[in-house]
Amino acid sequence: MTAPARTARGSEELIRAEEPVLAHNYHPLPVVVARAEGAWVEDVEGRRYLDMLAGYSALNFGHRHPALVEAAHRQLDRLTLTSRAFHNDRLAGFAERLAALTGTDMVLPMNTGAEAVESGIKVARKWAYDVKGVPADRATIVVAADNFHGRTTTIVSFSTDETARSGFGPFTPGFRIVPYNDLAALEAAVDETTAAVLIEPIQGEAGVLIPDDGYLAGVRELTRRKGCLFVADEIQSGLGRTGHTLAVEHESVVPDVVLLGKALGGGIVPVSAVVGRRDVLGVLHPGEHGSTFGGNPLAAAVGTAVVELLETGAFQRRAAELGAVLREGLAALVGRGVVGFRARGLWAGVDVDPALGSGREISERLMREGILAKDTHGSTIRLAPPLTVTAEELTGALGTLEKVLTS
Ligand SMILES: Cc1ncc(COP(=O)(O)O)c(C=O)c1O
Repeated sequence: MTAPARTARGSEELIRAEEPVLAHNYHPLPVVVARAEGAWVEDVEGRRYLDMLAGYSALNFGHRHPALVEAAHRQLDRLTLTSRAFHNDRLAGFAERLAALTGTDMVLPMNTGAEAVESGIKVARKWAYDVKGVPADRATIVVAADNFHGRTTTIVSFSTDETARSGFGPFTPGFRIVPYNDLAALEAAVDETTAAVLIEPIQGEAGVLIPDDGYLAGVRELTRRKGCLFVADEIQSGLGRTGHTLAVEHESVVPDVVLLGKALGGGIVPVSAVVGRRDVLGVLHPGEHGSTFGGNPLAAAVGTAVVELLETGAFQRRAAELGAVLREGLAALVGRGVVGFRARGLWAGVDVDPALGSGREISERLMREGILAKDTHGSTIRLAPPLTVTAEELTGALGTLEKVLTS
């Protein structure tokens, strides 16, 4: 980090200034970030914090990774937007490399995660009508309870979180909700109208819930046997976070469709994508779906640079190796403020003893000690540092967590 922050107003004043002019749909920690590099951010007053959230995995490569910033700068100087009315010279290469990285054929580029989910739903429904032969407007999609797939009206239609839903009806029909990690319930819910089973391989917002071994393979077997698609939402779990390119690789599973977002934009621009086989994504024809910004050359340039980083496998290996450090550190805290945790790669949901405070209170205490993390529900904290974090930084953060929980 080079020049000092030049914001005229201090943190407290800036937080107060947001109140009357910003919709109150978030409750951020009281920290005002002004600059960042790698795994570290700095607030307006120059205080430094280790970022243990990494933009909910949008910053898998850290803040302002040099290769990603360079790719963005180069592209900014050449071409930023064409819309899909014309071709641009960056999109083919991005799609080729992303398809190769994820072991599939085709890419439907979008911008945000919710858009990728919406697009995946539309592709699955269209496939059900055009290929499977489901009668018009009868297609169903089976989803899991406690899911988090985004915030659009259709997506909250199949949320089980009342705060996310309440006040936003009427809802989109055509979804069946079954318990997560329950193959028997899935078996009972899937029928001849089912276009797809849509699940997160690990439920992030729910508290980093990792299904039992065999669940993802079971979903794959069941969807194949019943003749519907397996759509995996890897928007948070994908692109290196869990120690593999995709979290489904832990069970050597290949879904029909994978939804990607967050880290695909390198923490610089919103980039998301639906990736899948040609016989599935091929159901879309001109005019049936689109996005003005989807596949824009700036997004494609940054996305290509992200894919390049992942092609070496180094980030995936790093997540796996440092994941062991994270697990070991958390295991040592069980019984000392931590009542349980779930972790895969550099991603953990940590259940703190509720007697010590809510997840929010613990996050605020961590913030005061220079660690940025975020609560999910109740007394659960989510840890997801950039994959560029060092072992020393990670053990330092675990030491701070121990201090916050035991002092
Ligand atoms: C699994 C999953 N799907 C979809 C989304 C929605 O992404 P976005 O906020 O970019 O719309 C998220 C965001 O947290 C997510 O974790």
